[in-house]
Amino acid sequence: MRREGPATSSGSYSPPVPERDANAQPLSHDSEKTMRQKSLSAGTPGFSSQVLKQIAQDLGTPTYVYSATLLKKNYRELVRGLKDVDHRIFFAMKANSNLSILKLFLKLGAGMDIVSGGELFRAQQAGALPRDVVFSGVGKTPEELADALQFGKEGIYAFNVESEEELRLLNSIACRLGQIAPVSFRFNPDVDAKTHPYISTGLKFNKFGMHRAKVLELARGIHKFPGIRVQGVSIHIGSQLLSLAPLENAFQRVKDLIGELDELLPEPLTHVDLGGGLGICYSDEVAPSVASYCGLIRQFFGPNRVNEKGRALKVMLEPGRLLAGNAGLLLSQVLYWKKSERKHFLIIDAAMNDLIRPALYHSIHAVVPIKRLSALANQTVRCDIVGPVCETGDFIARNRMMSTRLKGGDILAILSTGAYGFTMASNYNSRPRAAEVLVSGGQYSVIRNRESLADLIRNELI
Ligand SMILES: Cc1ncc(COP(=O)(O)O)c(C=O)c1O
Repeated sequence: MRREGPATSSGSYSPPVPERDANAQPLSHDSEKTMRQKSLSAGTPGFSSQVLKQIAQDLGTPTYVYSATLLKKNYRELVRGLKDVDHRIFFAMKANSNLSILKLFLKLGAGMDIVSGGELFRAQQAGALPRDVVFSGVGKTPEELADALQFGKEGIYAFNVESEEELRLLNSIACRLGQIAPVSFRFNPDVDAKTHPYISTGLKFNKFGMHRAKVLELARGIHKFPGIRVQGVSIHIGSQLLSLAPLENAFQRVKDLIGELDELLPEPLTHVDLGGGLGICYSDEVAPSVASYCGLIRQFFGPNRVNEKGRALKVMLEPGRLLAGNAGLLLSQVLYWKKSERKHFLIIDAAMNDLIRPALYHSIHAVVPIKRLSALANQTVRCDIVGPVCETGDFIARNRMMSTRLKGGDILAILSTGAYGFTMASNYNSRPRAAEVLVSGGQYSVIRNRESLADLIRNELI
């Protein structure tokens, strides 16, 4: 972490010789080839380089920067796509839980999809009302369930219940508190989302949701749960989905299940929660358009799609990445070049503790210099862009073509890091977590201070 000035003096810096020979590792896959162009020419869409430079100068690096304009644009595009459908968007705040970001979405009319007591607390601090909150997650604790039930007079909008034991626990807590808990059964439709296995959630061997037979069994015996009112069904089959086909499959299965549940339950269901998961473009992926995603939703649950009882269900969505991913970037600073026998390394001051996605999911993020590109474009070298953390897995990008003119102190933007960036950050290697900044109308505001060294030991007792 540097607050100001170049990391190395120009005297000690010697640019590596560009290398195009067998020493260089093969490109890992096609998107890396695309990245070669992108990292040199893409710029920072939606962000002004001037403001980014100013932020880096004023606050140092690493710093997460979000664009209010892009966050709003992403939300509004989804709302527009569903304008003729009775719907509500619950932002999956695990993607980005900074209070200012939550406030921005609440102001636009979104609710919050939470997965922990900590996220409930954050939602409350940001001004969410009970009806703004749905509670997902496979391991809700008794305390978390009780807190959510006691949020306001009426408790939260829905608990997405993931197991029979959770239903029993929620029922007993609700009865003790003299309340009736609104529940959606989280259904596991056993659909392959065709995404990274760590973010695939809708297969029968994943821990999430309940299979059809279990949901129907619980519905048949629902009279044994006086503290529960089943109002909906929820699904979430995975994240970074690049095809609508698995969603179409899942939508059909959930629709069939709703038909069966309506026969079994004392009251017809009022909503269907279709989760999140729509992918975004990080490099050269072609993600389905928001319009086509909304078209699919309308096809199954649109205004003319009534249930057996002649009523349309309210559609709920829980997008995270789609709203925040491309609306954020991580500013970092070049520290050094290093050449080993086999490889060039561009060592920067952002690391896996700041952004773990490349290490965890092998995700690909464009890395763009915040400098006049013409001054950098001529000579490039293939390199791994790595952080200072003591792990070989600490990389931000691999086999990337970067300008040899980059030198210590130059600022880079790691793109598409608005979702699952800061929220997954840690203090590993005793590194204070980055600052967060929101840019709006050409101005920036710090929305989270950089952690200090004192913050690192704040809760420790000697
Ligand atoms: C239950 C649930 N809903 C919504 C999301 C958000 O997914 P995405 O950010 O891909 O839209 C997740 C992500 O893990 C999730 O587990």
